[in-house]
Amino acid sequence: QKGGYASFMAKEIHEQASAVADTLRGRIEDGKLQLDEMKIDEAVLRTIDKIVVVACGTAANAGAVVKYAIEHWCRIPVEVELAHEFRYRDPVVTEKTLVVAISQSGETMDTLMAVRHAQEQGAKVVAICNTRGSTIPREADAALYLHVGPEIAVASTKAYLGQIAACFLLGLFLAQVRGNLYPDEIAQQMEDLSAIPEKIQEVLDSSDQVERLALEMKDATSVLFLGRHVGYPTAMEGALKLKEIAYIHAEGFAAGELKHGPIALVDEGQPVFVIVPSPGGRDSLHSKVVSNIQEVRARGARTLVIAEEGDEAVLPYADEVIRYPRTRALFAPLLTVIPLQIFSCELATAKGLDVDQPRNLAKSVTVE
Ligand code: F6R
Repeated sequence: QKGGYASFMAKEIHEQASAVADTLRGRIEDGKLQLDEMKIDEAVLRTIDKIVVVACGTAANAGAVVKYAIEHWCRIPVEVELAHEFRYRDPVVTEKTLVVAISQSGETMDTLMAVRHAQEQGAKVVAICNTRGSTIPREADAALYLHVGPEIAVASTKAYLGQIAACFLLGLFLAQVRGNLYPDEIAQQMEDLSAIPEKIQEVLDSSDQVERLALEMKDATSVLFLGRHVGYPTAMEGALKLKEIAYIHAEGFAAGELKHGPIALVDEGQPVFVIVPSPGGRDSLHSKVVSNIQEVRARGARTLVIAEEGDEAVLPYADEVIRYPRTRALFAPLLTVIPLQIFSCELATAKGLDVDQPRNLAKSVTVE
Protein backbone atom coordinates (compact mmCIF):
# COMPACT_ATOMS: atom_id res chain seq x y z
CA GLN A 1 0.00 0.00 0.00
CA LYS A 2 2.89 2.33 0.69
CA GLY A 3 4.19 1.58 -2.79
CA GLY A 4 7.69 0.75 -1.56
CA TYR A 5 8.03 3.91 0.56
CA ALA A 6 8.87 3.80 4.26
CA SER A 7 5.71 5.76 5.13
CA PHE A 8 2.49 7.07 3.62
CA MET A 9 3.90 10.53 4.11
CA ALA A 10 6.92 9.72 1.91
CA LYS A 11 4.59 8.20 -0.69
CA GLU A 12 2.30 11.22 -0.65
CA ILE A 13 5.23 13.63 -0.98
CA HIS A 14 6.39 11.71 -4.02
CA GLU A 15 2.90 11.78 -5.56
CA GLN A 16 2.79 15.55 -5.63
CA ALA A 17 3.57 16.06 -9.32
CA SER A 18 0.56 14.01 -10.39
CA ALA A 19 -1.53 15.38 -7.50
CA VAL A 20 -1.13 18.97 -8.69
CA ALA A 21 -1.65 17.90 -12.31
CA ASP A 22 -4.94 16.36 -11.18
CA THR A 23 -6.00 19.55 -9.40
CA LEU A 24 -5.36 21.56 -12.56
CA ARG A 25 -6.72 19.09 -15.10
CA GLY A 26 -9.34 20.11 -17.66
CA ARG A 27 -9.66 23.73 -16.58
CA ILE A 28 -9.09 25.51 -19.88
CA GLU A 29 -11.80 25.42 -22.53
CA ASP A 30 -11.83 27.65 -25.61
CA GLY A 31 -9.01 29.65 -24.06
CA LYS A 32 -11.08 30.38 -20.94
CA LEU A 33 -10.62 29.15 -17.42
CA GLN A 34 -13.60 26.96 -16.49
CA LEU A 35 -14.61 26.37 -12.91
CA ASP A 36 -17.95 24.64 -13.29
CA GLU A 37 -18.10 24.01 -9.55
CA MET A 38 -18.26 27.76 -8.86
CA LYS A 39 -21.98 27.77 -8.31
CA ILE A 40 -22.01 31.36 -7.09
CA ASP A 41 -23.60 33.85 -9.47
CA GLU A 42 -20.97 35.79 -11.42
CA ALA A 43 -22.89 38.99 -10.72
CA VAL A 44 -22.37 38.32 -7.00
CA LEU A 45 -18.67 37.59 -7.54
CA ARG A 46 -18.34 40.98 -9.20
CA THR A 47 -19.64 42.73 -6.09
CA ILE A 48 -17.22 41.07 -3.66
CA ASP A 49 -15.13 43.66 -1.81
CA LYS A 50 -13.24 41.41 0.58
CA ILE A 51 -12.11 37.80 0.79
CA VAL A 52 -11.64 36.07 4.12
CA VAL A 53 -9.84 32.76 4.11
CA VAL A 54 -10.66 30.57 7.12
CA ALA A 55 -8.65 27.44 7.85
CA CYS A 56 -6.43 25.74 10.44
CA GLY A 57 -2.87 24.43 10.43
CA THR A 58 -1.40 23.56 7.08
CA ALA A 59 -4.57 24.65 5.29
CA ALA A 60 -4.13 28.12 6.82
CA ASN A 61 -0.56 28.22 5.50
CA ALA A 62 -1.94 27.43 2.04
CA GLY A 63 -4.34 30.36 2.48
CA ALA A 64 -1.46 32.62 3.48
CA VAL A 65 0.34 31.78 0.22
CA VAL A 66 -2.60 32.51 -2.03
CA LYS A 67 -3.39 35.81 -0.35
CA TYR A 68 -0.39 37.23 -2.24
CA ALA A 69 -1.69 35.91 -5.55
CA ILE A 70 -5.34 36.89 -5.20
CA GLU A 71 -4.56 40.42 -4.02
CA HIS A 72 -2.10 40.84 -6.88
CA TRP A 73 -4.43 39.52 -9.59
CA CYS A 74 -7.83 40.69 -8.35
CA ARG A 75 -7.08 43.79 -6.27
CA ILE A 76 -9.44 42.53 -3.57
CA PRO A 77 -8.19 42.64 0.03
CA VAL A 78 -7.67 39.12 1.36
CA GLU A 79 -7.54 38.32 5.08
CA VAL A 80 -6.36 34.92 6.23
CA GLU A 81 -7.68 33.92 9.58
CA LEU A 82 -7.35 30.84 11.75
CA ALA A 83 -10.91 29.53 11.90
CA HIS A 84 -10.91 29.24 15.71
CA GLU A 85 -9.88 32.90 16.05
CA PHE A 86 -12.36 34.09 13.45
CA ARG A 87 -15.29 32.47 15.22
CA TYR A 88 -14.70 33.99 18.59
CA ARG A 89 -14.27 37.60 17.65
CA ASP A 90 -16.84 39.71 15.95
CA PRO A 91 -15.49 39.65 12.39
CA VAL A 92 -16.69 42.16 9.83
CA VAL A 93 -18.44 39.99 7.28
CA THR A 94 -21.15 41.21 4.90
CA GLU A 95 -22.97 40.01 1.77
CA LYS A 96 -20.03 41.43 -0.15
CA THR A 97 -17.52 39.18 1.62
CA LEU A 98 -16.42 35.97 -0.03
CA VAL A 99 -15.31 33.43 2.55
CA VAL A 100 -12.92 30.75 1.33
CA ALA A 101 -12.83 27.77 3.68
CA ILE A 102 -9.84 25.51 3.10
CA SER A 103 -9.96 22.03 4.63
CA GLN A 104 -8.46 18.77 3.43
CA SER A 105 -10.87 16.65 5.46
CA GLY A 106 -13.86 18.95 5.11
CA GLU A 107 -14.68 18.05 8.72
CA THR A 108 -12.54 20.36 10.86
CA MET A 109 -14.98 21.60 13.48
CA ASP A 110 -13.55 25.11 13.85
CA THR A 111 -13.55 25.66 10.09
CA LEU A 112 -17.11 24.36 9.81
CA MET A 113 -18.26 26.70 12.58
CA ALA A 114 -16.53 29.62 10.86
CA VAL A 115 -18.40 28.75 7.65
CA ARG A 116 -21.74 28.71 9.46
CA HIS A 117 -20.96 31.98 11.19
CA ALA A 118 -20.06 33.65 7.88
CA GLN A 119 -23.21 32.37 6.18
CA GLU A 120 -25.34 33.74 9.01
CA GLN A 121 -23.90 37.18 8.21
CA GLY A 122 -24.92 36.77 4.57
CA ALA A 123 -21.51 35.94 3.13
CA LYS A 124 -21.05 33.41 0.33
CA VAL A 125 -18.69 30.55 1.08
CA VAL A 126 -16.45 28.62 -1.29
CA ALA A 127 -14.98 25.43 0.14
CA ILE A 128 -11.60 24.18 -1.03
CA CYS A 129 -11.64 20.53 0.05
CA ASN A 130 -10.24 17.13 -0.71
CA THR A 131 -12.74 14.72 0.81
CA ARG A 132 -15.80 14.34 -1.37
CA GLY A 133 -19.15 14.68 0.30
CA SER A 134 -17.70 15.91 3.59
CA THR A 135 -19.58 18.45 5.68
CA ILE A 136 -17.85 21.73 4.77
CA PRO A 137 -18.26 21.41 0.98
CA ARG A 138 -21.87 20.24 1.50
CA GLU A 139 -22.73 23.33 3.50
CA ALA A 140 -20.77 25.80 1.37
CA ASP A 141 -22.31 27.71 -1.53
CA ALA A 142 -19.71 26.24 -3.88
CA ALA A 143 -17.01 23.61 -3.54
CA LEU A 144 -13.75 23.18 -5.38
CA TYR A 145 -12.22 19.76 -4.88
CA LEU A 146 -8.50 19.11 -4.95
CA HIS A 147 -8.65 15.69 -6.66
CA VAL A 148 -5.31 14.73 -5.08
CA GLY A 149 -6.59 11.37 -3.83
CA PRO A 150 -6.93 10.29 -0.20
CA GLU A 151 -4.26 11.59 2.15
CA ILE A 152 -3.46 8.95 4.76
CA ALA A 153 -0.50 10.44 6.66
CA VAL A 154 -1.58 12.80 9.43
CA ALA A 155 0.88 15.44 8.23
CA SER A 156 -0.53 17.10 5.16
CA THR A 157 1.69 17.32 2.06
CA LYS A 158 0.00 16.65 -1.26
CA ALA A 159 -3.23 18.24 -0.05
CA TYR A 160 -1.24 21.38 0.83
CA LEU A 161 0.01 21.67 -2.76
CA GLY A 162 -3.48 20.86 -4.04
CA GLN A 163 -5.00 23.57 -1.81
CA ILE A 164 -2.58 26.16 -3.15
CA ALA A 165 -3.16 25.12 -6.76
CA ALA A 166 -6.96 25.11 -6.32
CA CYS A 167 -6.88 28.58 -4.75
CA PHE A 168 -4.75 29.82 -7.66
CA LEU A 169 -7.52 28.60 -9.96
CA LEU A 170 -10.07 30.42 -7.84
CA GLY A 171 -8.00 33.63 -7.94
CA LEU A 172 -7.55 33.51 -11.71
CA PHE A 173 -11.25 32.72 -12.14
CA LEU A 174 -12.20 35.77 -10.06
CA ALA A 175 -9.80 37.89 -12.11
CA GLN A 176 -11.49 36.58 -15.27
CA VAL A 177 -15.04 37.22 -14.03
CA ARG A 178 -14.21 40.66 -12.70
CA GLY A 179 -12.06 41.65 -15.67
CA ASN A 180 -8.92 42.31 -13.61
CA LEU A 181 -6.69 40.42 -16.06
CA TYR A 182 -6.88 40.20 -19.85
CA PRO A 183 -7.79 36.76 -21.23
CA ASP A 184 -4.31 36.30 -22.66
CA GLU A 185 -2.75 37.07 -19.27
CA ILE A 186 -4.93 34.41 -17.68
CA ALA A 187 -4.00 31.94 -20.42
CA GLN A 188 -0.31 32.71 -19.81
CA GLN A 189 -0.65 32.21 -16.06
CA MET A 190 -2.46 28.93 -16.66
CA GLU A 191 0.26 27.79 -19.02
CA ASP A 192 2.92 28.51 -16.40
CA LEU A 193 0.84 26.79 -13.73
CA SER A 194 0.48 23.75 -15.97
CA ALA A 195 4.27 23.53 -16.18
CA ILE A 196 4.51 23.20 -12.38
CA PRO A 197 3.94 19.41 -12.07
CA GLU A 198 7.01 18.74 -14.23
CA LYS A 199 9.06 21.08 -12.03
CA ILE A 200 7.73 19.39 -8.89
CA GLN A 201 9.03 16.14 -10.34
CA GLU A 202 12.46 17.73 -10.85
CA VAL A 203 12.56 18.76 -7.20
CA LEU A 204 11.51 15.27 -6.12
CA ASP A 205 14.14 13.67 -8.34
CA SER A 206 16.90 15.67 -6.68
CA SER A 207 16.00 14.90 -3.07
CA ASP A 208 19.30 13.16 -2.17
CA GLN A 209 20.84 16.28 -0.74
CA VAL A 210 17.95 16.96 1.66
CA GLU A 211 17.84 13.31 2.65
CA ARG A 212 21.52 13.51 3.59
CA LEU A 213 20.92 16.73 5.53
CA ALA A 214 18.07 15.10 7.45
CA LEU A 215 20.34 12.26 8.54
CA GLU A 216 23.09 14.66 9.54
CA MET A 217 20.67 16.78 11.56
CA LYS A 218 18.86 13.95 13.28
CA ASP A 219 19.81 15.23 16.72
CA ALA A 220 19.03 18.90 16.14
CA THR A 221 17.03 20.46 18.97
CA SER A 222 15.89 23.62 17.21
CA VAL A 223 15.57 24.67 13.57
CA LEU A 224 14.54 28.09 12.26
CA PHE A 225 12.90 28.89 8.92
CA LEU A 226 12.97 32.30 7.25
CA GLY A 227 11.22 33.72 4.21
CA ARG A 228 9.68 36.87 2.80
CA HIS A 229 6.59 37.37 0.62
CA VAL A 230 5.31 33.89 -0.36
CA GLY A 231 8.44 32.46 1.25
CA TYR A 232 7.05 33.49 4.63
CA PRO A 233 4.11 31.04 4.73
CA THR A 234 6.48 28.46 3.23
CA ALA A 235 8.76 28.99 6.24
CA MET A 236 5.75 28.57 8.56
CA GLU A 237 4.80 25.34 6.84
CA GLY A 238 8.38 24.00 6.98
CA ALA A 239 8.43 24.65 10.73
CA LEU A 240 5.00 23.07 11.27
CA LYS A 241 6.04 19.87 9.47
CA LEU A 242 9.17 19.53 11.60
CA LYS A 243 7.31 20.10 14.88
CA GLU A 244 4.50 17.73 14.17
CA ILE A 245 6.36 14.68 12.93
CA ALA A 246 9.92 15.04 14.23
CA TYR A 247 9.07 16.72 17.58
CA ILE A 248 11.81 19.28 17.09
CA HIS A 249 11.37 22.85 18.20
CA ALA A 250 10.95 24.82 15.00
CA GLU A 251 9.86 28.34 14.20
CA GLY A 252 9.03 30.09 10.96
CA PHE A 253 9.58 33.84 10.67
CA ALA A 254 9.11 36.61 8.17
CA ALA A 255 12.77 37.38 7.50
CA GLY A 256 12.13 41.10 7.98
CA GLU A 257 11.23 40.39 11.61
CA LEU A 258 14.68 39.02 12.41
CA LYS A 259 16.05 42.21 13.85
CA HIS A 260 12.87 42.79 15.84
CA GLY A 261 13.62 39.83 18.08
CA PRO A 262 14.22 36.39 16.61
CA ILE A 263 17.84 37.05 15.70
CA ALA A 264 18.60 36.84 19.42
CA LEU A 265 17.97 33.09 19.11
CA VAL A 266 20.79 32.63 16.63
CA ASP A 267 24.13 31.43 17.92
CA GLU A 268 26.89 29.07 16.87
CA GLY A 269 25.63 26.15 14.82
CA GLN A 270 21.91 27.08 14.85
CA PRO A 271 20.41 25.57 11.67
CA VAL A 272 18.43 28.13 9.67
CA PHE A 273 16.57 27.32 6.47
CA VAL A 274 16.08 30.35 4.24
CA ILE A 275 13.67 30.41 1.31
CA VAL A 276 15.07 32.79 -1.30
CA PRO A 277 12.86 34.34 -3.99
CA SER A 278 13.93 34.41 -7.62
CA PRO A 279 16.66 36.96 -8.38
CA GLY A 280 14.65 37.63 -11.55
CA GLY A 281 11.65 38.87 -9.56
CA ARG A 282 11.42 42.07 -7.58
CA ASP A 283 15.10 42.75 -7.10
CA SER A 284 14.85 44.42 -3.72
CA LEU A 285 13.13 41.35 -2.30
CA HIS A 286 15.87 38.98 -3.41
CA SER A 287 18.68 41.17 -2.13
CA LYS A 288 16.91 41.70 1.22
CA VAL A 289 16.71 37.94 1.74
CA VAL A 290 20.36 37.55 0.79
CA SER A 291 21.26 40.14 3.47
CA ASN A 292 19.17 38.20 5.98
CA ILE A 293 21.23 35.07 5.21
CA GLN A 294 24.36 37.13 5.73
CA GLU A 295 23.05 38.43 9.07
CA VAL A 296 22.33 35.03 10.55
CA ARG A 297 25.54 33.54 9.15
CA ALA A 298 27.54 36.32 10.79
CA ARG A 299 26.12 35.12 14.14
CA GLY A 300 27.22 31.55 13.57
CA ALA A 301 24.10 30.03 11.96
CA ARG A 302 24.37 27.05 9.67
CA THR A 303 22.52 28.34 6.61
CA LEU A 304 20.48 25.93 4.51
CA VAL A 305 19.41 27.98 1.55
CA ILE A 306 16.60 27.13 -0.86
CA ALA A 307 17.39 29.14 -3.98
CA GLU A 308 16.47 29.21 -7.64
CA GLU A 309 18.68 27.43 -10.16
CA GLY A 310 21.48 29.71 -11.25
CA ASP A 311 21.14 32.12 -8.30
CA GLU A 312 24.79 32.72 -7.45
CA ALA A 313 24.30 35.63 -5.08
CA VAL A 314 23.55 33.22 -2.22
CA LEU A 315 26.76 31.22 -2.61
CA PRO A 316 29.05 33.26 -0.32
CA TYR A 317 26.66 32.93 2.64
CA ALA A 318 25.19 29.46 2.22
CA ASP A 319 26.44 26.32 3.90
CA GLU A 320 24.11 24.31 1.66
CA VAL A 321 22.20 25.44 -1.41
CA ILE A 322 19.11 23.46 -2.33
CA ARG A 323 17.96 24.35 -5.85
CA TYR A 324 14.48 24.77 -7.31
CA PRO A 325 13.52 25.30 -10.95
CA ARG A 326 12.56 28.71 -12.29
CA THR A 327 8.94 29.74 -12.26
CA ARG A 328 6.79 32.78 -11.54
CA ALA A 329 7.42 34.21 -8.08
CA LEU A 330 3.83 33.47 -7.02
CA PHE A 331 4.07 29.82 -8.04
CA ALA A 332 7.39 29.11 -6.29
CA PRO A 333 5.70 27.90 -3.04
CA LEU A 334 4.56 24.82 -4.96
CA LEU A 335 8.26 23.95 -5.33
CA THR A 336 10.14 25.45 -2.39
CA VAL A 337 8.14 23.66 0.31
CA ILE A 338 9.01 20.21 -1.04
CA PRO A 339 12.59 20.02 0.29
CA LEU A 340 11.18 21.04 3.70
CA GLN A 341 8.57 18.26 3.61
CA ILE A 342 11.23 15.72 2.64
CA PHE A 343 13.57 17.01 5.34
CA SER A 344 10.98 16.47 8.11
CA CYS A 345 9.85 13.13 6.79
CA GLU A 346 13.39 11.74 6.46
CA LEU A 347 14.50 13.16 9.78
CA ALA A 348 11.53 11.67 11.64
CA THR A 349 12.11 8.34 9.87
CA ALA A 350 15.78 8.42 10.87
CA LYS A 351 14.73 9.00 14.48
CA GLY A 352 12.60 5.88 14.28
CA LEU A 353 9.35 7.79 14.86
CA ASP A 354 5.92 6.88 13.57
CA VAL A 355 5.88 9.36 10.71
CA ASP A 356 2.29 8.70 9.65
CA GLN A 357 0.76 8.79 13.13
CA PRO A 358 2.57 11.44 15.15
CA ARG A 359 1.85 11.51 18.86
CA ASN A 360 -1.09 13.60 20.10
CA LEU A 361 -2.39 14.36 16.58
CA ALA A 362 -5.41 13.20 14.59
CA LYS A 363 -5.97 13.46 10.84
CA SER A 364 -9.26 15.16 11.24
CA VAL A 365 -9.98 17.46 14.18
CA THR A 366 -13.72 17.16 14.64
CA VAL A 367 -13.78 18.58 18.15
CA GLU A 368 -13.17 22.14 19.26
C1 F6R B 1 -0.63 19.54 9.39
C2 F6R B 1 -2.03 19.16 9.36
C3 F6R B 1 -3.02 19.99 10.10
C4 F6R B 1 -4.25 20.24 9.23
C5 F6R B 1 -5.34 20.98 10.03
C6 F6R B 1 -6.54 21.29 9.16
O1 F6R B 1 0.15 18.70 8.61
O2 F6R B 1 -2.38 18.21 8.71
O3 F6R B 1 -2.45 21.20 10.51
O4 F6R B 1 -3.85 20.98 8.11
O5 F6R B 1 -5.74 20.19 11.10
O6 F6R B 1 -7.11 20.11 8.65
P1 F6R B 1 -8.12 20.16 7.47
O7 F6R B 1 -7.38 20.64 6.25
O8 F6R B 1 -8.62 18.76 7.30
O9 F6R B 1 -9.21 21.13 7.84
